[in-house]
Amino acid sequence: MRSNPVPVEFEDLLSAAGRRVLAGTHPLCGALADPKRRFVAARGLIDAGRAERLRRVLERELADQAEPLDRPIPPESIWDQTEAYADLLPKTVRARTIYFESGREPGVRVARRLGVERLLRSPSFHAFAVALAGRPLARDWGIQLLRYGPGDYAGPHHDHDPGNPQARGGYVDIHLGLCSRAVADQSLVYSKAGHFSEIVPLAGAATITAYRLPFWHYTTPLRPRRGRATEAQRWVMLGTFLYARSRPVSSSPRAPR
Ligand SMILES: [Fe+2]
Repeated sequence: MRSNPVPVEFEDLLSAAGRRVLAGTHPLCGALADPKRRFVAARGLIDAGRAERLRRVLERELADQAEPLDRPIPPESIWDQTEAYADLLPKTVRARTIYFESGREPGVRVARRLGVERLLRSPSFHAFAVALAGRPLARDWGIQLLRYGPGDYAGPHHDHDPGNPQARGGYVDIHLGLCSRAVADQSLVYSKAGHFSEIVPLAGAATITAYRLPFWHYTTPLRPRRGRATEAQRWVMLGTFLYARSRPVSSSPRAPR
């Protein structure tokens, strides 16, 4: 009998290598504790068959439920500028999302029924994040789903959250990217030593990315394979983890948008 495409525990999605992360014996354990390392991308930590079944469920049940995120470049960012090279660009994005902030959103109701919220709140997802972060993380974390279709992207941004006292010193994001085979490419570009010099492909079937935020990064437009635009999509299952503090925190973390 086939296992449930949306397992109860994140651990149930993991490959043998992924389980070594949980066991503390994988080379990536503690990777984000390295002061020189803000970003990790890894293939092979997720079982490919389970990832594909999960992606199909998300696409079938949630693609139409996710709400459009559409923040284009403001025209005034060009025409209100008074000085050459003083360019200011707010975060631009086009994608679809489910935030899980309100149970009233139709997408949240469907995601709950499918067990997606339970999976993202499962203790083994937290344990996996702690293993990559190499430090204790708060027990209450933010979750979000994103869906990139053809041409969808996120412009340069850094995810610094100075208004949240618990996040202003930094925090950790763990993303599970589930990509259909109809995607030709999509990449994450990120900064190192002050330049956008690093680029990592995201178009694998199941890619784990881990971020020690904030730092500048952007996601390039998703490009479908020729003639396959309708099947081309990349889902991202996302957890936002604050650092654990000695006393419990009262408010929930906010997933960066
Ligand atoms: Fe980001």
